[in-house]
Amino acid sequence: MMKIPHRIYLTEDQMPKQWYNLRADMKELPDPMLNPKTYKPATEEDLYPVFCTELAKQELDNTTCYIDIPEEVQEFYKMFRPSPLIRAYNLEKALGTPAKIYYKYEGNNTSGSHKLNSAIAQAYYAKKQGLTSVTTETGAGQWGTALAEACSYYNIPLTVYMVKCSYEQKPFRKSIIETFDGKIVPSPSNTTNVGRAILKADPTTSGSLGSAISEAVEKAVTTEGCRYVLGSVLNQVVLHQSIIGLESKIAMEMIDEYPDVVIGCAGGGSNLGGLIAPFVQDKLTGKANPRIVAVEPASCPSLTRGRYAYDYCDVGKITPLARMYTLGCSFVPSANHAGGLRYHGMSPIVSKLYHDEYMEAISVEQTKVFEAATLFAKQETILPAPESSHAIYGAVLEALKCKETGEAKTILFGLTGTGYFDMMAYEAYLKGTMKDYIPTEKDLEKGFSELPIIPKN
Ligand SMILES: Cc1ncc(COP(=O)(O)O)c(C=O)c1O
Repeated sequence: MMKIPHRIYLTEDQMPKQWYNLRADMKELPDPMLNPKTYKPATEEDLYPVFCTELAKQELDNTTCYIDIPEEVQEFYKMFRPSPLIRAYNLEKALGTPAKIYYKYEGNNTSGSHKLNSAIAQAYYAKKQGLTSVTTETGAGQWGTALAEACSYYNIPLTVYMVKCSYEQKPFRKSIIETFDGKIVPSPSNTTNVGRAILKADPTTSGSLGSAISEAVEKAVTTEGCRYVLGSVLNQVVLHQSIIGLESKIAMEMIDEYPDVVIGCAGGGSNLGGLIAPFVQDKLTGKANPRIVAVEPASCPSLTRGRYAYDYCDVGKITPLARMYTLGCSFVPSANHAGGLRYHGMSPIVSKLYHDEYMEAISVEQTKVFEAATLFAKQETILPAPESSHAIYGAVLEALKCKETGEAKTILFGLTGTGYFDMMAYEAYLKGTMKDYIPTEKDLEKGFSELPIIPKN
């Protein structure tokens, strides 16, 4: 029998040349995005003031199954991809499990995460269209860094609105984004109307991804030649992130493996949507039936406790409405250390798959996440990001179930990034000062009560 290596790499020639568009195979599509003024399905033209033309097309393309990755983007990918599929031999041993644990490691670039997969694609299309600047939001900082890397490669000026509590927790994110010539503004800020209104209502707010998005969109639509780019939630981002799942599947085929369960952390759903895409394709076409598990923070439980409803993607209510699992766009999650998972909503694609029971979801408190993170770091020599560590927790849980039942299941999880900028979080965990916050029903009710009522057309 072949000995499975620790790290399984594709050659450059084996790397996918097309992204996979899961929507083309879904039995039922996610409900369409709505124009926030007319409540009618958003058209490509509706999206042009906010997004690049090509990205607006990808956003609404429900039928093209495979979309060519532009050659320039393929070349850029080769600077940090293929990412390794790693067999977690040591972790398996430490857990004493018969399960085989694999993880797809996306942290091997300066952003420290999978975010560069979409950032470079979005910067490429922005350049091709001749845009003169772009804006974005960032929570944990990985997306802002990734986009700064991509924009500096294409020489496009970038303004990043970074959620205030993450900005304060991770001061070096500023330096690194500035290294790549990005401008960074803690959000909410006094630089936009929506930021000023949010600050007026609550001057001490720690910010949220929803408010940072509002500021970035306002800045984009009020600046000539500028567009907004988003690092998660949208269909186009899930499409770009399919590279994770496609590579994983090829790597597993090379060692004659197939996952019984695929696990990912869920913030806005982009790494999860990308990782699971080709495995969900197998489910949809009847080829295989792996379990799919999303892991989210108990402090921001959009899938496990949210409503499946139309909602705004931002606090300022200027973005199109998406039908998704949401806690309400006014919900401000507690200052959990997994900044990238503090989003009120979820990708409409992931939401629809969850709603139609193609996948499961669990939520977990951050102290348990850090217990899994430190165990993993010691066994596998990678210091994981707090976001990614939610997936580690999910994998450990499955592996321990296998220990009880004696089953040698194959587990695949997405290790989205590294935690080198998260040392305040690790420190709080190690000192025992880290707290778990779980919203009460009453906390959630407030967000739900403000969900928009959609008039019947
Ligand atoms: C390392 C890492 N993992 C996961 C996420 C969650 O995003 P998504 O659910 O879009 O993959 C983020 C977001 O910032 C992140 O930085």
